[in-house]
Amino acid sequence: MSFPADDRLIVALDVPNALEGLQLAEKLGDSVSFYKIGLGMLTGGGLALANELKGELGKKIFLDMKLFDIGNTVEAAVRGLSQFDLDFLTVHGDPHVVRAAAEGKGGKDMKILAVTILTSLDRSDLDAGLIKPGEVQDLVLERAARAMEAGADGVIASPQEAALIRALPEAAGKLIVTPGVRPAGAALGDQKRVATPAQAIRDGADHIVVGRPINRAADPKAAAQAILAELAGV
Ligand code: C5P
Repeated sequence: MSFPADDRLIVALDVPNALEGLQLAEKLGDSVSFYKIGLGMLTGGGLALANELKGELGKKIFLDMKLFDIGNTVEAAVRGLSQFDLDFLTVHGDPHVVRAAAEGKGGKDMKILAVTILTSLDRSDLDAGLIKPGEVQDLVLERAARAMEAGADGVIASPQEAALIRALPEAAGKLIVTPGVRPAGAALGDQKRVATPAQAIRDGADHIVVGRPINRAADPKAAAQAILAELAGV
């Protein structure tokens, strides 16, 4: 039995260039409808790949740029990117950045998703960056609330934070997208705070982002199908 694609599953195309990205998308075929293209592929033809996946294959595109700059520059960057027919775009969750991005997208139906605090950072990294005292998780919640207030369409959050963010009044009607998802028994790689696909959705995520468990699998389509089977039961 083969499960149809499910927009809740976003596959991270973390491969070096557009050619390999296209080859992976071809292997996954009808099993995957939503792809994330990140900074690592920008110089390898990432935007051309986004156009091809969208225009030729009808896939949805999440461009993970994590933009951060003065408002005027963010607005210009987002205005330019909005011509690429993207579905999701990430910016850092600072309110001035989010407001500028919301302005830059104009009338386009491109969701602006805010990054709160990178999951690779711990308290000592925040100290080094002169970020105010407090538990990382509390700061994540505060930044998520402020970003959504400033006009973000949603946030990127670890599965552990999804339920807490879902409970915020500011999160009503907003999207929560969670990376750090691992099917039971899969290798963690460098991800520390993980959940299974089903758990992440139950905790309030609208979409999960899965990279290595699919893009490094010997049989990527079978790996995607296993996750679709799990999602079908949620
Ligand atoms: O291979 P893996 O499933 O860990 O990939 C997760 C994807 O989500 C990667 O593209 C990574 O850059 C991204 N991501 C993340 N944690 C964040 C934000 C983005 O893992 N906080």
